[in-house]
Amino acid sequence: MGILEVKNVNKRFGGLQALGDVNLSVAENTVHAIIGPNGAGKSTLLNCLVGKLIPDTGSVMFAGQSVLGRKPYEINQMGISRVFQTPEIFGDLSVMENMMIPLLAKRDGSFRMHAIESLEDERELRAEAEKMLDEVNMLDKQDMHSASMSRGDKRRLEMAMCLIQRPKLLLLDEPTAGMARADTNNTIDLLKEIKEKRDITMCIIEHDMHVVFSLADRITVLAQGTPLVEDTPENIKGHPKVKEAYLGEAA
Ligand SMILES: Nc1ncnc2c1ncn2[C@@H]1O[C@H](COP(=O)(O)OP(=O)(O)OP(=O)(O)O)[C@@H](O)[C@H]1O
Ligand SMILES: [Mg+2]
Repeated sequence: MGILEVKNVNKRFGGLQALGDVNLSVAENTVHAIIGPNGAGKSTLLNCLVGKLIPDTGSVMFAGQSVLGRKPYEINQMGISRVFQTPEIFGDLSVMENMMIPLLAKRDGSFRMHAIESLEDERELRAEAEKMLDEVNMLDKQDMHSASMSRGDKRRLEMAMCLIQRPKLLLLDEPTAGMARADTNNTIDLLKEIKEKRDITMCIIEHDMHVVFSLADRITVLAQGTPLVEDTPENIKGHPKVKEAYLGEAA
């Protein structure tokens, strides 16, 4: 049994069947990629994994517990964090202040700095943030305003903001979308490092096949809301059903 188990998930938006009978099992400490053409239902599926969307039918279990209907901070407390397509950082805050937000959010969903309870509390939060920044080689940037950083550094900061919650499952929706090749390669290196050093399972949605084949242990190909094939990267390469799924789209 996988740490993440999706069973018979269906989701309709009006007349559109965005997800049709999705089954997915993700083994602990692996990287599972979900690929598929535009509109295949990838983001919809990810939204179901973080409790943001409730499927019409089916179940989503993480470590034996249902994620459905839970608030974002409850999802964080279960050990799930998510990286969005565009880095979710606060440009007018410093790197250090950004790092404190997920620590506060994990407590009760509060994003406010005044949720810091005391000087002692602030010292502890700072110490934890410094430790994490050190782990991702960003300690020297702690006082920088995040708006002035490169796209790659913003992504690195956002990743650190997820990792500081010590997730068991990291969900990534196109983490390299719109990036220059150099930033994409940096992100691949960072994700490889995370994979090697941590006890973590990752589910990644990605259009860039270079990213997928560099990282994934298993790949699910989604087309029109339904998994077409699931296999290892070696077997997915050149698979006729994958070509069929991407027909009409430059993949
Ligand atoms: N909230 C919504 N209301 C109505 N339709 C929606 C909604 N969210 C998604 N859809 C539709 O559901 C289908 C799947 O969308 P989804 O965003 O999951 O695709 P995707 O695979 O992530 O695509 P992309 O690669 O472009 O990000 C699309 O046809 C989309 O237009
Ligand atoms: Mg999407």
